[in-house]
Amino acid sequence: MTRIWLEELRSHVGEEVEVGGWVFNLRSSGKLYFIQLRDGTARVQAVCAADAAPAEVFARCAKLTLESSVRITAAVREDARAPGGVELLVKDLDILSVAEDYPIQKKEHGVDFLLDRRHLWFRSPRQEAILRIRSTVENAISAFFDERGFVRVDAPILTPTSCEGTTTLFETDYFGQPAYLSQSGQLYMEAAAAALGKVYCAGPTFRAEKSKTRRHVMEFWMVEPEAAFLDHEGNVSLAEDLVASIVAAVLARRRAELELLKRDVGALSRAKPPFPRVSYERAREVLSAKGRDLPWGEDLGGDEQTALAEEFDRPFVVEYFPFEAKAFYMKRREDDRRLTYSMDVFAPEGYGEIVGGSCRENDLETLLENIAAHELPLEPLEWYLDLRRYGAVPTAGFGLGLGRTVMWICGVKHIREAIPFPRMLNRFYP
Ligand code: 4AD
Ligand code: MG
Repeated sequence: MTRIWLEELRSHVGEEVEVGGWVFNLRSSGKLYFIQLRDGTARVQAVCAADAAPAEVFARCAKLTLESSVRITAAVREDARAPGGVELLVKDLDILSVAEDYPIQKKEHGVDFLLDRRHLWFRSPRQEAILRIRSTVENAISAFFDERGFVRVDAPILTPTSCEGTTTLFETDYFGQPAYLSQSGQLYMEAAAAALGKVYCAGPTFRAEKSKTRRHVMEFWMVEPEAAFLDHEGNVSLAEDLVASIVAAVLARRRAELELLKRDVGALSRAKPPFPRVSYERAREVLSAKGRDLPWGEDLGGDEQTALAEEFDRPFVVEYFPFEAKAFYMKRREDDRRLTYSMDVFAPEGYGEIVGGSCRENDLETLLENIAAHELPLEPLEWYLDLRRYGAVPTAGFGLGLGRTVMWICGVKHIREAIPFPRMLNRFYP
């Protein structure tokens, strides 16, 4: 008999099948054992009855504990009351491993307790649902760029320089030379865009940000498209289309998971382009009217992002940030050199910035001035300057943070739940 996955049970009603899995709940009443089984693809109840299973099989059930692993041969019968519409009647049962006292119980646990056991915690239904949604988000991203002819180019992780400013670098030793964990693949994507036109990378990025907010982690996956000849409008619209297509894919394929998470999908279904847009200047006015003055030149902090989001019932764009608030590579506006062709996309409902992007400064002299203004060392950026020496063209792109995006789509309060093994200020175990 070939083993099948629990998700396939519905098409085997009336047959005898073999399945494998873990016991996530267990109950007995004299002559019956009710074994709640999960195998990662679905959950089902297996009933072992004293009068339907061999005596030694029935006796074996007494050894079962939570999270013990088993292999079961059973008859599949329809049961309208069961969540998946089917139930298993056990004919044979092998215990692969009797689990020790399982630490995660049905009761509420503190989050530190759960994070210490992240490797076990994500067996629970909520965490499983989030991981599935994250996978759908990742697939939707590849499909989106593939359909538009973007070539995936992998950026390095060990880098000689900073991309987003020197204050959040993780330094390591590269055979006697300092090296840094990448904050962003962007500079490399600019090089790749000059070779392939439309490119993107998707990989881990690192920020030694000493901030303990619910939106920040030290290691997060970022998706970064970059395209030659793309202007500010094109960049905004690429970001809107990407966010909309990610949300659409999750709404189409992960309804059950969203329901399990009790996610109100209202704001998600409104994530259709064009998104509302405000300039940085306008955003400051809105904030002032709410009694929150943002000094000119400062980026939107977490509290400002949350306050601003009260004005929108869907994702929104803030554009034209001051040069001094952003990174060295951003192109300044010709009509107001204090401002840049930049744009951030914010999730509604207070989830914060999910996308940050801009047009890149493609003039060599101006770029050199900008690097000097940011007090960055020139030598490690020599290769980047070459991109302006050999056929510079306007390019633009952005980075979409995967953790933030998943956090928003799933409606989870803290980014740590949107990442399989989160790396936080005071934690990198397990
Ligand atoms: O706005 P950021 O810093 O932009 C860049 O790194 C650009 N070089 C991207 C580009 O233009 N190619 O980061 C982009 C996104 C943010 O909008 C946010 O979603 C996420 O990355 N992000 C973080 N997510 C979790 N924890 C952190 N500490 C994050 N920092 C940024
Ligand atoms: Mg940003």
